[in-house]
Amino acid sequence: MMETPRNPEESKTPEAGAVSDTVTDHYARSGSLAQRILDLAHGLAGGGPTVDDLAPLDQFHMRGEEATVEFAEMVAPQAGWFCVDLGCGIGGPARWLAAHCGVEVLGLDLTESYCRDAASLSRAIGLSDRVRFACADATGLPLAEDSLDLVWTQHAAMNVPDKKALYREVARVLKRGGRLALHDIMAGPEGPPHFPVPWAATPEGSFLLPSGEIRTLLAAAGLEELVWHDHTADALAWIHRRRADLEAGEPRPPGPHLFLGDGFKEMASNLGRNLEEGRITVHMALLEKTSVPYA
Ligand SMILES: C[S@@+](CC[C@H](N)C(=O)[O-])C[C@H]1O[C@@H](n2cnc3c(N)ncnc32)[C@H](O)[C@@H]1O
Repeated sequence: MMETPRNPEESKTPEAGAVSDTVTDHYARSGSLAQRILDLAHGLAGGGPTVDDLAPLDQFHMRGEEATVEFAEMVAPQAGWFCVDLGCGIGGPARWLAAHCGVEVLGLDLTESYCRDAASLSRAIGLSDRVRFACADATGLPLAEDSLDLVWTQHAAMNVPDKKALYREVARVLKRGGRLALHDIMAGPEGPPHFPVPWAATPEGSFLLPSGEIRTLLAAAGLEELVWHDHTADALAWIHRRRADLEAGEPRPPGPHLFLGDGFKEMASNLGRNLEEGRITVHMALLEKTSVPYA
């Protein structure tokens, strides 16, 4: 079902290649993460970590595992489905889906070091038979058309400049009746975000569109909207809750800040500020492929 993974750079224009480098340099900046995460999870769990022990550390999106659980409730993946996690990062959501929903998952990501980390973490917790990873660009997938039951994607589209190509590609690889589940940050009404943010150090790596434009692009790709939820208020409440806990002297819960380096603090702080100022919004949606406009 999966064609030979190709180098995502091969089919790129020079401008697209430069964007890919900006994005992957950003995510690869902290080097190899798997062993650091396993050591932390081992310490926290007091033994060989499980998928649930990794969850506070391997989910690189707003509200972490809490959001993944809500997202899965909305999507309701069926055991036996073949799913792709597009922009899978180090594979946290893909592992969670395979372990909790009984689906087979292929995680695809542009950042090679993340794909290696994702594979190492899955091996370490004995999930390699149900979750695989490969390096690929979401706008040129190494997959046959009409081959997937579900494309799941969390917090990756904001790094993709050509969203028309992205959704067209998703529609190509989904079976008729297959679903796209997206959980993404989108542009807010009050101007561009303050940088750095967790997905980009500078505007050169960030490509946000307002939700209305995204919905138009999805419909044009033949993806019919089944559910659309604006989760901006939940994201903001989560940030305020964490801030209040810290101010009250509560210990900071474990998270990616433990291994993503000094710059992460400023990125996380800008995330909250951008939400508060209406510069970004957060959405979850479920769509179904109803036609084949790419043919
Ligand atoms: C913020 S991380 C989210 C990772 C994961 N979805 C999660 O929630 O834990 C964004 C990921 O998208 C990947 N990405 C960005 N642009 C991409 C593209 N064009 N194709 C595939 N992956 C991409 C990045 O390499 C990064 O791993």
